[in-house]
Amino acid sequence: MASKKLEENLNLLRKIKLQGVDEIIGNSPKNRLKSNITEDKVNLNKNDKNSNQLNNISSLPDLKAVDSLDDLKDYMSKFKGCELYKSATNMVFSDGNKSSEIMLIGEAPGHDEDIQGKPFVGRSGKLLNKMLEAIGLSRDTVYIANIVPWRPPNNRRPTEEEINICLPFIRKHIELIAPKVLMLLGSTATYALLRNKEGITKIRGKWVDMEFGKLKVPTLPSFHPAFLLRQPAQKKYSWEDLKMLKKKIDES
Ligand code: URA
Repeated sequence: MASKKLEENLNLLRKIKLQGVDEIIGNSPKNRLKSNITEDKVNLNKNDKNSNQLNNISSLPDLKAVDSLDDLKDYMSKFKGCELYKSATNMVFSDGNKSSEIMLIGEAPGHDEDIQGKPFVGRSGKLLNKMLEAIGLSRDTVYIANIVPWRPPNNRRPTEEEINICLPFIRKHIELIAPKVLMLLGSTATYALLRNKEGITKIRGKWVDMEFGKLKVPTLPSFHPAFLLRQPAQKKYSWEDLKMLKKKIDES
């Protein structure tokens, strides 16, 4: 009995590690077995049944003819290749200033975003607003989009398959906005674009040069505001990242 429980706990830890979480950073222990949300959150890993299986997808996005934000939005709103649209209330395309030099990318819409059709309008959005204000920015001076534009049911993390299907959308989106700097909010956005092997705690706070078509963009991975709401002690690292972002824009 005891060894079965131990094995279950070890399996859970292995899953969490595969997700890229390889450091213990909380101030106090947390019972992760209590909530099944944790299980959902571990979907983005190689154990995912749908991982890398793109064979059964009838249509991947073909964006060759798309050369404006309106075209992209129109194409995405008609796209049926990602099942998430079926359970979503609204497609969440973007918010903010299309001419901004700063683009922020999150994971996927949650409940409030799904209802309002805008990214980061719920609790984590409120924190994001405060973070932006702390470096003299606002919703009107940045541009915000997500890796996946439809809410995954029960706010689960998007699967690798969903991410791979939607990836051409966000890549094209970045190309069309052509920001001077990109900030990736959280491990899903970071993994989707960088395919990093190390976890977000290791990769955050370091600039990475990324290419989108002919565009080269310095890109900064950082923590997701929802993570900061759960782990306020980590805010000091986000503050470092925000200062790096501000410095980069001031220099450019
Ligand atoms: N979390 C995200 O990653 N994106 C949103 O739009 C809202 C919450």
